[in-house]
This record gives sequence, C-alpha cells and structure tokens, in this order.
Amino acid sequence: MGVAVEVESLSKSFGSQNIWGDVSLTLPPGEISVLLGPSGTGKSVFLKSLVGLLKPEHGRIVIQGTDICRCSERKLYEIRKNFGVLFQDGALFGSMNLFDNIAFPLREHTRKGEAEVRRIVLEKMEMVGLIGAEKKLPGEISGGMRKRAGLARALVLDPEILLFDEPDSGLDPVRVAYQNQLIVDLNAQIDATFLIVTHDIGTARSVPDNIGMLFLRQLVMFGPREVLLTSTEPVVEQFINGRRIGPIGMSEEKDAATAAAEMAELQSRGSFNEAAVKGGHFDGIPPQIEPTSGLPVRKAVQRRKDRVMQMLHTLPRPAQEAIVSSLTREEQARYGVFAHVGAGAPMAQHAQGQQTVQTSTPYARPQDAAPTQNLRPSPTRRDLPQGDVANLPQDRGQHHQ
Ligand SMILES: Nc1ncnc2c1ncn2[C@@H]1O[C@H](COP(=O)(O)OP(=O)(O)O)[C@@H](O)[C@H]1O
Ligand SMILES: [Mg+2]
Repeated sequence: MGVAVEVESLSKSFGSQNIWGDVSLTLPPGEISVLLGPSGTGKSVFLKSLVGLLKPEHGRIVIQGTDICRCSERKLYEIRKNFGVLFQDGALFGSMNLFDNIAFPLREHTRKGEAEVRRIVLEKMEMVGLIGAEKKLPGEISGGMRKRAGLARALVLDPEILLFDEPDSGLDPVRVAYQNQLIVDLNAQIDATFLIVTHDIGTARSVPDNIGMLFLRQLVMFGPREVLLTSTEPVVEQFINGRRIGPIGMSEEKDAATAAAEMAELQSRGSFNEAAVKGGHFDGIPPQIEPTSGLPVRKAVQRRKDRVMQMLHTLPRPAQEAIVSSLTREEQARYGVFAHVGAGAPMAQHAQGQQTVQTSTPYARPQDAAPTQNLRPSPTRRDLPQGDVANLPQDRGQHHQ
C-alpha cells in the first residue's frame, strides 16, 4: 500500500511572486488524486515541492513521519526513493535508448547486477506496453510512447508515491483514454499513492478517487471526487464544464466586475449551460474507470469507501447524496445509510474549513441552498429519523461488522 502525503499550510513564492499559499491536503495512501487548475497556477511547482526539488517557505510536507521541507539532505534523498515522477514529455535523455533511459535509476541508485536490471526494466516496459521498443531513441517515437517510457522509468524503483505532470497533454482523446486506463491498471497492480496534475476534464471526471483544484494562489478545494463534481462554486463549475463565462479569464483572473456581469447575464437567462453551445455539457458523476478485466481489483477502493463513509457527515449534501447512491443496497445497509432523503430531512452540518474539503474562495456560494431532492425510495429503509443520509458516526458501530 502506498504512503500518505500530508501537506499542511504550504506556501511557495519566487522572489516577490507568491505562487500559492496555505495549501493543506492529504493524499490518502494508495488512492488516485487529481490536482486541477488553469495553466500557470503552480501545479508543476506543487509537484516539484512534493519531491523536494523546490523548497516552500512555509508549511510542512509530511511523509512517513518526516517533514521533507525541514529534513537533512541525506534524509530527503532516502525519502525521494519512494517517489516516481512522470514529468511532462517523459523527460528522457535524448541520446540514450529507451532501455538505458528506463534502467537509469536502477543503475544510479541500486547495486543490482545487469541481469536483475534487465528483468526489472523489461517487466516495467511490459506493464506500460513498450515491449519491443528497447532500442528506440526518444526522438524516434511518438509523444505517447515517450510518456509511457517516462512512466516505466518512474516505476523501476517500485515507488510508493507516483506523481504525473499533465500525462494527457499533447495526446489525442483516444490516446488519453488508453493512458487513463493504463493509470488505473497500474494503480490496481502496485497500490501506490497517485497524484495526477492535469487540466483535462475527462481525466478528472473518470480517473481519480479525489480531486483538488488550484486557483488564484489557493487550493479551492480538495476531497472525494463527488465533492468537486457536484460543487456549485462558480470557479469549479466553470472549469469542470470548460466554460468561457465565470471567474476564470483569459489570463487566469478576470476582474470581479466583468465576472459578475457575465454571471448575472447567465442567471437572467436561467442557465449556466454555456457548454451546450459547444455540444459538451457534463451532467452528473460518471462512473470511475475500472481496471482491465483479469487484473486485481484496486485495493484502494474499499479503503476509500470506509474512509469516505467516516467523513460523510462533513461533506456538502449533494456530495453525500452522490456517494450514498453510488453504494449497493448491501453497502448502504452495512454502513447504515440510505439513498433516501425526505424533503426537509435534517441536514448534516457541512463542516466548512475542515481539512478534507476546503471551500475558501471568495467565489463560494452557499451549497446547501439547493432544494433537497427526493431520491429513490429504498425497500430496505429502516426506522431511522427522516432517512437522514448523514447518520454515520453514531450508527456505524451498530451496522458494521
Ligand atoms: N524555478 C522558477 N523560478 C521562478 N518562477 C517559476 C519557477 N518555476 C515556476 N515559476 C513560475 O510559477 C508559476 C507557476 O508555474 P507552473 O507550476 O509551471 O504552473 P502550471 O504547472 O500550473 O501551469 C509561473 O508563473 C511560473 O513562471
Ligand atoms: Mg505545469
């Protein structure tokens, strides 16, 4: 199982330019998380900070009990061995063939003999579908193959944490679909903690367990995928629907007056659905990509389910409803919850400002103002007060074996 990465109140500047501040999140072990954000918001800077290549001025990054912002170079070197990083375009050595590129970390960081190196390199090349391309130079292959070679190289030291910097950039939609499947398959096989930086909405909607978003030097939110995918915060809605109208402008930030005028116009038309003009409106939460048949199930799935059900009462109501209705009847019974919310049912307190879900932008709209939906009645409903979906911590002990 991968290891957790705990980021607390992290801030990074270059000279007088603040890139982001007060970023707090935890990457749960073995789960897949996505960090979204417009170009230039400091996503790559964040990844580089996680591996200790950049030093944030404030805050902590705790991995296996060590704060890597403060530890010795020697300790950092040790901890870095837990990481595999796929940089944009693979970051391969142009004069080395793929085999030698992929073998590089093993030859550099271990004392393994050539036979063992060969076994490991070929195993990882097979995992990413590159068998037969050992002798190719990076310049002779497609961008997608270069990324997969970079991925194989990131895998050779058996990382506990795998970071991907825009693995989907520059790929056509079909290649992105294959690569997303590959990422999910890898997660099922190695059960490491994954963080994918992307601005691809399709990837964000179908791959991760958790999603966060950077905007205007802040982490807008981070939490289970259902939170961001049901969010009504304008900046999040705009981004995940790929709209022109909203707080995000041409050069990252619109002035507040322009954004407000556009929002008012949209509201007067009674629709936020500008994306329909482009033929692409996303509705609801699509199912997550599952591992290819024949591969093991992702161990993170059950761990995540238990984790998310523990924190269910802290989440906004639309996310709670999406999570509960994604469970099977048996799971709902086991966790003591029901996809059955009566109108006017008591609502769990949405714990604003908790570490798990942050909704700290100036653009926040009250999420709970939305009218309560009546979800499908469930024949297994028990006599609980008003079918409250958020009855977890108290009830959990009774129904959980
Ligand atoms: N080493 C550096 N020195 C100075 N500024 C940097 C450095 N690396 C990144 N930046 C700046 O940080 C900002 C965020 O960059 P980046 O993390 O690459 O954005 P993203 O990956 O979200 O597109 C940019 O304004 C960039 O110019
Ligand atoms: Mg980047």
